[in-house]
Amino acid sequence: MDSAPRTGPDPVLQLHELAYSLGVSAALTAAATLGVADAVGDGPVHVDALAEAVGAHPGALRQLMRALAGHGVFQEDSAGRYGHTPLSRALRADAPNSRKPWVELAGADFAWRIWARLTDSIRTGEAVFPEIFGTDMFTYLAEHRPEIGAVFDAAAAKSTEAAADALAGTMDIGSATTVADIGGGKGRLLRAVLERHDGLRGVLFEMPRILADADPELRDGGSLAGRCRIVPGDCHADVPVKADIYLIKGVLHMWDDDTAAGVLRNIARNAAPGARVIVIDQLLDATTTPRIAGVIDLLMLVSQGGKERTTDEFRDVFERAGLELRRTFPASPVMHLVEGVVR
Ligand SMILES: C[S@@+](CC[C@H](N)C(=O)[O-])C[C@H]1O[C@@H](n2cnc3c(N)ncnc32)[C@H](O)[C@@H]1O
Repeated sequence: MDSAPRTGPDPVLQLHELAYSLGVSAALTAAATLGVADAVGDGPVHVDALAEAVGAHPGALRQLMRALAGHGVFQEDSAGRYGHTPLSRALRADAPNSRKPWVELAGADFAWRIWARLTDSIRTGEAVFPEIFGTDMFTYLAEHRPEIGAVFDAAAAKSTEAAADALAGTMDIGSATTVADIGGGKGRLLRAVLERHDGLRGVLFEMPRILADADPELRDGGSLAGRCRIVPGDCHADVPVKADIYLIKGVLHMWDDDTAAGVLRNIARNAAPGARVIVIDQLLDATTTPRIAGVIDLLMLVSQGGKERTTDEFRDVFERAGLELRRTFPASPVMHLVEGVVR
């Protein structure tokens, strides 16, 4: 046995903490759902007043706050009052780049049910969501859990809002005259790209259900409507769009390699040789945030049978779709641009 003196934290305890970090997720979701961070103002608040403000049991709320403070979310003073820390401020709904909706989703009831079956997904390589809920995640949320669907939409909108301008600034549009965003949500990224480049034309390709709520600036009467076409469709069936650049952000990681290659092939067969396809996703071999990337990789698997990818995995999927991977480029701590060209 190794008898060298141990330095650093006890690995057994570290493992124990990791295993029980699911309780931290639960505590964060409870705090977000109750609106505790929103109820703490600029100065510290006694836990009894907080309990009254959020409709909680004072003793139980104290347990919650103590647990969270142990992780740097809120801080307790000697009078039993809780004040903000940088982490707890990010839980406020009105914080710039608030994480509140993502935290609510992380520990939502449907999420616990799919994580509970991760072992099955690892055995089979398939999502458990459809088996548990009878349909895919987006249909389930839209049709059966609109209140959680709304939180999901708010979370996605927050992230896209925060990232859109930075991404649009990072992208090299070159001599392109038309940019299409495939699975572009409500069009926030496309809007940022069009706003930066006078004269550039845009196409927003999305499922009809999402387009009903597309960005007003892109729709009839909006300031960019004259330069933007909105095309409803299903990218698994076809992507009947001609563009010089195709963006596809936060989409391919929802699907396995065969499905992702099929979607890219649908883009490529409508595009002219030399057209650029820019995937915006996490890049596992280059990310500076590997811990959360690994967790999201598993979440994609268990929820949708998807995965995050390495450069080599992207190269392989691109090749199968008739694209040549040209370059990768960091766009933020969690996102890379992965660019290919239609052969
Ligand atoms: C995680 S969201 C990303 C949205 C947007 N690109 C962004 O980054 O904010 C995935 C998007 O893919 C769209 N999507 C899913 N399946 C699709 C399909 N079969 N055809 C077209 N769009 C699809 C969804 O409607 C959703 O807006």
